Amino acid sequence: MIAEKTRLIAPYGGELIDLLVPRKQLVEQTAYARTLPYVQISPRVECDLELLAVGAFSPLTGFMNRADFQSVLDTMRLADGTLFPIPITLPIELGADMELGVDIALRDRKNNILAIMTIEEIYAWDLEETAAKVFGKYDTRHPIIAEMHRWGRVNVAGPLRVLRLPPHLDFAELRRTPAETRAVLARYGHPNVVAFQTRNPLHRVHEALTKRAAANIDGVLLLHPVVGMTQPGDVDHYTRVRVYRTLIDNYYEEDRSLLSLLPLAMRMAGPREAVWHAIIRRNYGANHLIVGRDHAGPGPDSRGEPFYGPYDAQDMIIQHAEELGVKPVPFTEMVYLEDEDRYEENAKLPNGAKVRKISGTQVREDYLGKGVPLPPWFSRPAVAEILAESYPPRHRRGVCLWFTGLSGSGKSTTAEHIVNLLLEKGRNVTVLDGDVVRTHLSRGLGFSKEDRDTNIRRIGYVASEIVRHGGMVICAAISPYRATREDVRNLVGEGFFEIHMATPLEFVEARDIKGLYAKARRGEIKDFTGIDDPYEPPLHPDFILTAENTPVEDNARRVVERLIELGFVRSD
Ligand code: ADX
Ligand code: MG
Repeated sequence: MIAEKTRLIAPYGGELIDLLVPRKQLVEQTAYARTLPYVQISPRVECDLELLAVGAFSPLTGFMNRADFQSVLDTMRLADGTLFPIPITLPIELGADMELGVDIALRDRKNNILAIMTIEEIYAWDLEETAAKVFGKYDTRHPIIAEMHRWGRVNVAGPLRVLRLPPHLDFAELRRTPAETRAVLARYGHPNVVAFQTRNPLHRVHEALTKRAAANIDGVLLLHPVVGMTQPGDVDHYTRVRVYRTLIDNYYEEDRSLLSLLPLAMRMAGPREAVWHAIIRRNYGANHLIVGRDHAGPGPDSRGEPFYGPYDAQDMIIQHAEELGVKPVPFTEMVYLEDEDRYEENAKLPNGAKVRKISGTQVREDYLGKGVPLPPWFSRPAVAEILAESYPPRHRRGVCLWFTGLSGSGKSTTAEHIVNLLLEKGRNVTVLDGDVVRTHLSRGLGFSKEDRDTNIRRIGYVASEIVRHGGMVICAAISPYRATREDVRNLVGEGFFEIHMATPLEFVEARDIKGLYAKARRGEIKDFTGIDDPYEPPLHPDFILTAENTPVEDNARRVVERLIELGFVRSD
């Protein structure tokens, strides 16, 4: 009972916000909400809404207004000076029935009514400015920046009443609000709580790191994995939660650790994100946060360089620790010492130590991808098994070959040849050809930028479903816009290959297989790619092919040989 009295640190901003409408008003408010103009919010906004509603973003009580938004971009602070590094906004396409003073309903994609907002402010936001300030630079290789093109053009803000939290059917027993988490933590009887943020499976180094952090602060470990949105291509959260649960149940001290899921939509904003993570974890009752190497880093930029330095996030959070009320527990990279059979930080290695490590890429490519079991020094066997089940070897995984290039550049023909080679090798393939897709999936769409984007997103969506089920798909559409292709790449995730049919315009125009270039030159067809509509070539395609001087058989063979090399297709 004494333990009940453990006092955890106060919520950030001093208050734990709760925006949920009281039960008594629910029926009436829901009936009212049904009559309102509405916006359908994205999965990302849904995550933000949920965390706003339960007070995980305290002291925020709603989506940011212009003053807070601009101030966060410029100074990492709200207009009142409170440190808050990430803009939390509601970007929408403004409907004709939406103006200042009007109540709107926020609905999810299935049309569930989640909240009512009174529009108090409507303001435009600038994509490039926002990207440059939040992420350090404008580079569409960044997964969130690639996605921002799809966000609404204006942000709206105003008082928010939440009728219903976004429904979750999975792992309900592991989901807790900040208030619930605090209540559980208080019962442990330790004032110190260290949170571990993660979007990856836990391996032995992470186990060592988290246990050491908890011992260092003589407190409780809050294992707080993100299950909202993480980096495209990450291990899915179902698999990860099975891993976390296995570890917590079998390898952690019961009275010193708590597993709880966080429905956060990560921004992969490195240093700014680390500060945000600290604020969030403080609201859940933690007063320490583990910050290791490359915290919330988004992988390489379009020049192949990392967006942030490996310890930028640590520096940033150390700088603000006092104000945050959350102390970082910093770690340099944790590695395995083979001779001593233990785990240690890179910065604290004995002289001449023999170190072993396996990178995330190696886990995927050299072990899971090839069906090789992860060694026991790297993963607990139970964890290795869960991962092997979810991530079969490559020849049983999904692949998307995404052709892009001018009309008549040879996309469809090359695709047909590839299909044949693959069938010969025992892999089945679906082809989504731009021209064919336009007769059913995208019937009625034209060639405006908007329609082209819609067409590409439809193809990308279907492709992502095929890939998710371990199938192979070849997409052959002009797909002229770089940002849209990046979007699709992120949607599909691993197994996506961009093939640029770089046959020069002079060549395709001269042979003009379908007679379209002649018509375009005469002005009989408008918005024709390469003539009076732009084509943005890929900056880093996986293949560059040309139909000029190269037989189609050779191009097709080159692609298939590469797929064999990579293990996506078995050689005979
Ligand atoms: S993150 O995007 O959520 O930061 P990840 O789940 O990989 O990615 O990392 C979670 C936290 O663990 C981060 O603070 C990261 O720096 C730290 N971390 C991950 N792997 C190691 C390691 N081998 N050594 C030290 N810290 C690590
Ligand atoms: Mg074609």
